[in-house]
Amino acid sequence: MTRARLEGRVLVTGAAGMLGSQLLLSAPRGVEALGTDLVAAPAGSPPVAKPGVDLAARAEVEALFDVLAPLAGVIHGAAYTAVDKAEEDELRALRVNGEAPRVVAEACVRRGIPLVHVSTDFVFDGEKQTPYGERDATRPLSAYGRTKLAGEQRVSQAHPAAAIVRTQWLYGPRGKHFPGTILALAASKPELKVVNDQVGAPTSTLELAPVLWDVLAARASGLYHAACEGRASWFDFARATLELCAKTTPIRPCTTAEFPRPARRPAFSVLDCTRLTALRGRSLKPWREALRDFLAAERLLA
Ligand SMILES: NC(=O)c1ccc[n+]([C@@H]2O[C@H](COP(=O)([O-])OP(=O)(O)OC[C@H]3O[C@@H](n4cnc5c(N)ncnc54)[C@H](OP(=O)(O)O)[C@@H]3O)[C@@H](O)[C@H]2O)c1
Repeated sequence: MTRARLEGRVLVTGAAGMLGSQLLLSAPRGVEALGTDLVAAPAGSPPVAKPGVDLAARAEVEALFDVLAPLAGVIHGAAYTAVDKAEEDELRALRVNGEAPRVVAEACVRRGIPLVHVSTDFVFDGEKQTPYGERDATRPLSAYGRTKLAGEQRVSQAHPAAAIVRTQWLYGPRGKHFPGTILALAASKPELKVVNDQVGAPTSTLELAPVLWDVLAARASGLYHAACEGRASWFDFARATLELCAKTTPIRPCTTAEFPRPARRPAFSVLDCTRLTALRGRSLKPWREALRDFLAAERLLA
């Protein structure tokens, strides 16, 4: 890809979160990235310029856009991400994952602002056995997936030129992440059992954040899938984490049925990222390499 240059002010929503904070830290030169979130940034995270804004509230969003004037673009990462809790809180999840994207998209359209909206592999049912392309039929299994799909639909209706980037199995610096959970369990339990019948691609925010900046810079529109290369089960992901950190706690595969959770997850949700690779001229790193880089950056690598 001939790298398009992005300049000016960009609004990052969900900026106190895992992905949003990484977006603030990885903004390209020439971009002034300003964040908003419901809450202020936790200690150790980049500051959120405008905390306390509820993005599902139209008047708050209009006032935010008037004050910040993020004319170079918006990357909308804010979401209700508590997948299990959403099962009994679907209306609230829909307000955040369905309504807020519409409000943000409409605010962008009124001002001619490009938008990149972040979505999820949970829009799929996981019954395919080959990677999911952007044109594959959606059929969410959970309340979270349904509300995120509603967000996609409302964004593309309100802002047809917006890019919608589906990603999966995110982990990254700051906040709670899967490798950290596994390392904590390995330190406190004699043996670990990890689910081996859900397959996806662990994706580091260190890899994904620059991709979202590229998508915005390219003024891409429509659906894109974005995940690290390769595929893994949660067991593979956990075992790789332990190996890379030289932890010797025994680890055994188990089934989803042994660890029932309120929300159903797709059994297979590897994303076909060909369209994104064509846009950028390269794919994201293989997941194991990206995991190694993350562990090194966190000083956890053996
Ligand atoms: N994590 C994954 O594995 C994964 C996988 C696929 C796609 N995604 C998508 O990637 C994006 C980023 O996810 P993440 O893991 O970085 O999530 P995260 O850490 O939970 O960050 C999302 C942020 O959005 C904020 N937010 C919630 N409701 C809001 C509202 N009404 N107005 C303004 N801000 C609001 C949250 O605040 P509170 O914490 O106070 O609610 C949180 O700080 C989301 O769109 C998510 O759906 C994530």
